[in-house]
Amino acid sequence: MSSSTSAPITSPPVPMSGPDITELEVSSVVAALASGCLSIGPQLEEFEQRIARLIGVRHAVGVSSGTAGLHLATIAAGVETGDLVITSPFSFVASANCILYERGIPIFVDVDPVTGNLDPGLVSEAVRDLLAGGAARRRWLPPALRHRDSGVGRLKAILPVHAFGQPADMDPIVETARAHGLTVIEDACEAIGAEYKQRNAGGIGDVGVFAFYPNKQMTTGEGGMLVTDDERIAMLCRSMRNQGRAAARLGEIVAAALAPPPPPRRPTRPSRGQREARLSEKSARGTVKRLRRRPADSE
Ligand SMILES: Cc1ncc(COP(=O)(O)O)c(C=O)c1O
Repeated sequence: MSSSTSAPITSPPVPMSGPDITELEVSSVVAALASGCLSIGPQLEEFEQRIARLIGVRHAVGVSSGTAGLHLATIAAGVETGDLVITSPFSFVASANCILYERGIPIFVDVDPVTGNLDPGLVSEAVRDLLAGGAARRRWLPPALRHRDSGVGRLKAILPVHAFGQPADMDPIVETARAHGLTVIEDACEAIGAEYKQRNAGGIGDVGVFAFYPNKQMTTGEGGMLVTDDERIAMLCRSMRNQGRAAARLGEIVAAALAPPPPPRRPTRPSRGQREARLSEKSARGTVKRLRRRPADSE
């Protein structure tokens, strides 16, 4: 066949994924609308408990998107201006954006060509160099920061991504993190139901996040879920997802759970988490003052 007669090959686009909505989901949504409880309520609490059981962790916190969950997890990890977070360059942009939202610096470490996920050997090398400082550290920094040390903070976390449902090699990553006191935030947005050595993706690091966008394995339209065994992270994120209101309601319990982490090596501005804790203390105190103004109390 001559090339002049061959027609261009066209094929219909293959969708990456599509929502699987049945009558059951439709009737459940209608029932939720009819209940009049349209934000945080018993349905969400049940959903959170089911996800926590499924993943095998103590806490699950429903959030408005995977990005929102990753952002809260980044704040809970104490990431502040200039702080470094190691992550994967092969991901949806949200896994780097959540670091940038806190003015942190994403450090991209290359992926294993077989899994497409963070190469644990390179992660360990990057951690060693970033903590060593000087020329060793500069090699991993974005080009704009390679020639100056000012503005570069501490290495705070590792954020592996389980791309397309394929779990990252978590054991060596967690081991490296534990050896250096770093938080592990799993971006499991594409990986609900994925298993790594008989454990569930999202429930292996300190905190994991799932997304329920329509192209995910499960969808709520928009939505996400943060999972953790860490009481402090769970309560802080539960509070932050709702403008600190949960903290205000739970008062002292939350204040105790949000007790600031060990003092940083250098003076820093208070993290958002600490500010949230103080806010809760303040509102507790404000409430006590208002109680004192009641006639019965002033007698
Ligand atoms: C790897 C990854 N991280 C984060 C997100 C962000 O999730 P969402 O779109 O719900 O904000 C997605 C979703 O597209 C994702 O695929």
